[in-house]
Parts: sequence; structure tokens; C-alpha cells
Amino acid sequence: MCGIVGYVGRQKASTILIEGLKRLEYRGYDSAGLAVLQGDGIELAKKTGRVGNLVKEAKKHRFTGTTGISHTRWATHGGVTDANAHPHVSSDGRIALVHNGVIENYLSIKKFLIGKGYTFSSETDTEVLCNLIAYHFAKATKTGDESHFLGSVRKALRHAEGTYGIAVICTEAPGELVAARKGSPLILGVGDNEFIVASDVAALISHTQNVVYLKDGEVVHITPKEFSITTLDEEDVEAVVDRVTWDIEAAELNGHAHFMEKEIFEQPAALENSMRGRFSEDGSTAKFGGLNLGPVEFRQIDRFVFLGCGTAWHACLVAEHLIERFARVPVEADYASEFRYRNGPLSGNPLFFVMSQSGETIDTLGALREAKRKGYKVLAINNTVGSTIARETDGGIYQHVGPEIGVASTKAFTSQLLIGAMLALHVARMRDMSFADGVEYVNALKGVPDLVRRVLEQAPHIKAIAQRYAHHTDFLFLGRLSLFPIALEGALKLKEISYIHAEGYPAAEMKHGPIALISEKCPSVFLVPKSEIFNKLLSSIQEVKARRGPTIVIATEGCEFPPGLADELITIPDCHEAVLPIVATIPVQLLSYYIACARGCDVDKPRNLAKSVTVE
Ligand code: F6R
Repeated sequence: MCGIVGYVGRQKASTILIEGLKRLEYRGYDSAGLAVLQGDGIELAKKTGRVGNLVKEAKKHRFTGTTGISHTRWATHGGVTDANAHPHVSSDGRIALVHNGVIENYLSIKKFLIGKGYTFSSETDTEVLCNLIAYHFAKATKTGDESHFLGSVRKALRHAEGTYGIAVICTEAPGELVAARKGSPLILGVGDNEFIVASDVAALISHTQNVVYLKDGEVVHITPKEFSITTLDEEDVEAVVDRVTWDIEAAELNGHAHFMEKEIFEQPAALENSMRGRFSEDGSTAKFGGLNLGPVEFRQIDRFVFLGCGTAWHACLVAEHLIERFARVPVEADYASEFRYRNGPLSGNPLFFVMSQSGETIDTLGALREAKRKGYKVLAINNTVGSTIARETDGGIYQHVGPEIGVASTKAFTSQLLIGAMLALHVARMRDMSFADGVEYVNALKGVPDLVRRVLEQAPHIKAIAQRYAHHTDFLFLGRLSLFPIALEGALKLKEISYIHAEGYPAAEMKHGPIALISEKCPSVFLVPKSEIFNKLLSSIQEVKARRGPTIVIATEGCEFPPGLADELITIPDCHEAVLPIVATIPVQLLSYYIACARGCDVDKPRNLAKSVTVE
């Protein structure tokens, strides 16, 4: 949600800032802008729409400076206009700022600043913060305070309530940049005589793999030669430089039309990476290095609570099913955003897991903090090393699937399903699951990349189906038990990337209401595994056909359907229950992807959305 980049070095800042924005565009694409220190002033270009529009706009300027900031916006305060685009420049022209987050008390600060003669040209909270820094800077200039640029940023931030990742430049501090964070991610890339700050590693990885993950409340002051980190209270912080383990290749399209397509097809490798080194030597259970829980402690857990948002919540629902089914331990899966305010009663010794690809989702972070506040241990299933969630939990499991850039989550989702299945095994083997069943389960998990490959081979068949159905405006996705969350996921994917109204339902619930939607205009996608409820699912399909509803059936190979029941059939390999949700996910991902392509939608940047939702 909004992406920021800042550069200090010896190269032309504008090139690096725009390149960084292109890599962060998935975080927001309402407008984009950049500001560079040049001569005695600030050269500024900003434009509504994609970074492409900014590139055209920037050609009207002559950017030569080597210090600057840039931003790609997902609008919160103020509409999508050029004036509301970042960077914002203070009314005295001295300070320019980019911001990811929300300054909640901006109205009272604005009133104060108007009283001091500051003027505003946008409706944003960001411009208020920018002018507040300018106000402190002007005051410090009068008193001759030496470190007044850094000091004035710190002073302003002490008054700011809300969340921010910011980068600031000042006309009177050439070659300097100040950046700070609270509740929004910010990473410092440490290059060879150059520094880049960004909301995400993707924006700086082509320049350096050495990074410092800034923490909430930290402020970094950068000059062309060095950087230093302090707190808002001016205490020194020792910087820990980490090395990013993936390189720029992972953030490139590599011949794919979209990141979503690339990430769908990367899933066999991503699943291998999520499993690597996580099975016991005897091959009968899963092991995790980062849980920070001994077997005795683990054995005492009487309930698991899984929290997440959107797609990650669907993965929580599958984990609930598998842990209850195989380990017979009660599990609750809740929306993180609801859990946080619901204040429901909890059992004596629950263990919390938060699931989050980005590790920055504010609702999930809020739920994590609430559970911790109540004294519970919280672990994370997370894909982003150094993320806020990774840092604030008591331990957890990294997904290791590499950067996920497509706004619609795909490989991160199946990896979360896999880790949920591995956890179910881990817990089950500590309870009643036999060695032999454990070995069978492990072998099933190890085989999942190949099963996924087999489903991916059907892409041309699924594409042809998608093209036949792309004109419909309503879809139902129906599944039962562990495939009900996959029906939800199928509906969510279709909604978000193709703007088609879709609903996911437990198949048997259809007759309690959604059946009223069925007509020849509303196709139903059924998830039909070989199982003891196969005949029940068949009845649900019959009910749809009886009402002339088109049916797209995703079924286990070998399942037989009476003639005319499945208008379209997509098969998935027969597999262990633990991996069934993963295997069944691939066709719904491909179906949504190809439908969106057939409708000419911008798959990687769906309207109104942004990856990593850092506002409540
Ligand atoms: C949908 C999607 C979102 C995210 C949700 C949580 O395709 O990607 O629903 O799953 O915003 O994001 P993370 O996992 O980063 O917490």
C-alpha cells in the first residue's frame, strides 16, 4: 500500500527512483511522483495513473541531481489527483516528503500550521507532515541548531499519530536524506557509496543485497558517505546489515505475460522450497526450526488459533480442517481484523499462528499484538524476512517462496496450505498418528510439486474453458470440507482480477439460498474430490443442472459423471487428503487468470487493490 523509494549516491537519482517505483508499483498505482534535489531547489514531477505516466511527465523535466525521493500511491486521504500525488513539498519550498501510511491527527496539525501561515495545495495528511517538518526546520534555522534537518524530522514525528514510512529531503541539506518508519515497512539498502531506502527489497535488490530492516520508531540519516540510525528520542541504534538471499531475477517477469502467471507456474519449485529440510530423518514427521517451543510445551497446547486476512485467511481455514482431522486438536480460524475487536473467550492454553505473505498487513499485525497483549504466544507463517510480523512474533515458519509480486496471491497461498498441512502432521505425530501413517503423509507432501506440475500441464485446456466462459458476470464456486476454502479462494481470485461477481459456498449450503442465483447465465465451479461425499456433491451438481446452470467440474481423475452433468471437466490427480487443497487450487487459479486475460483486465494491477494492506 503505497511504495516509497529514496536515493543518495553518485548516480542520477531519477533513473534509480523510477526503476524502484516500477518494482513497487504493485503496492499502489493511483499516481506516482519523484522529487530530486537540484541546484538550490527541488525538481518535482508527479502524475496520476501508472508509473508509465510519470515517465512521460518526467521527460518534461531535466533531472540531474543525485539525491531524491519517489512514490507510487494507493489513495487514502484525498482523491486520485495530480495535486494529491506524492512527493509533497512544503509551502516554503524547503522540504519534500513521500509517505506510506496515515497520519491520523493531521487535521489538528493542519489547523495549527494554517495559524502559522503555512498553505496547502492538496487534501492529504502527508502534506501536513511535510509542512510540520518545514515548521520545525524554520524554527531550528533561526536558533542556529546544527543538525536541524534530522532534528526537525524527529520533532515533527513526535507529534504525528498514526503510521508512516517516510523519506524526506531538504533544499538546505544537499546530499542528505532522512527516512523513518512506524507501522509501514522501510528497508535501507547499503551499496557501494550509495544508499537506497524503499518499502520493499524489490526496489533496491538490483543495486545491493545488503540491507538493514528498519524497526518502528527508528530514523535513518543518510549522507553520500554514511548512514546512522537513531530513535525519535535521539538514542543511537546499532545497525544490523542482513544479506537478502534472492536476486533480481526473482523479481523479473522472465518471459511471462504477468507476475501472476509466472507465480502460478513457479509453484512446484516454491513448494519444494517451503518443504526443504523440514522432515525428520526417519521420514515420519515434519520439523520446524523456528517454533521456539519444546515438545512438552507443544503437547500442552489445547487449541490452535489461526489468524489472517483474505487469501491467507483461506489458508487458515484449511489448516483448521487438517489439524482437527489429523491431530484431533480444536482449531479456530478467524479473520485477523475481526479477532482483534471481537474479544472472544479463549481456552486455557491456545497457541496462535498468524499467516501473512507480506508480514505487513495491519489487521494481522493488530491481531498479533492483541493476542500478545493478552499474554499468548504467537507464531507466524510468513514469506517476508525482516517484516514487522516476523519481528514481532515469538517465532514461526518462513515460507521461502521468494518475492510474490502479482497482487493476487498464488504461490504464497499454496505454500501456506503446505505449511498448514505440515503443521497438522507435526501435531498429529505428537499425538496419535502412527509411524506408518506419518511416513505415508510425508511421502504425499514430498510428491505435491509433481502433482502440481501435472495440473499445470492442463493450462491450455483450462484456458480454452476460460475463454468460453469469460463473458459471464456471475459465478458460484462450490466445495466441501477442506475444499470449501478453495471455493472461497477461487471466488476471491476471480473477483479481484476479472471484476466478475463470484461467491464461494459450501456445496451443500447452495440449496439454502444461493440456488436462487442459478440460471443459464451463472456458471458453477464445483470442486469434486474422490471421497465419501462424492455422491452428495453429485446431487448438488444435479440441482444446478436441473435449473439450467452451466457447470465447470474440477474432479479427481477417474470420477465418473452421468452424461450431461459436467459441461466442462478439469481433472486433478488422485492424492492424499493433506495435499488435496493444494492440488485443487491450481485449476481455480488458472481459470481466474485466463478469464481475466480474456476480458483484457490488468491482471497484476487490479483496480482499487494493492498488495500488502497497511491501513485498517
Ligand atoms: C488476495 C490477496 C489478499 C491477501 C491479504 C493478506 O489475492 O492477496 O487477500 O491475501 O491482503 O495479505 P498478507 O498475506 O500479506 O497478510
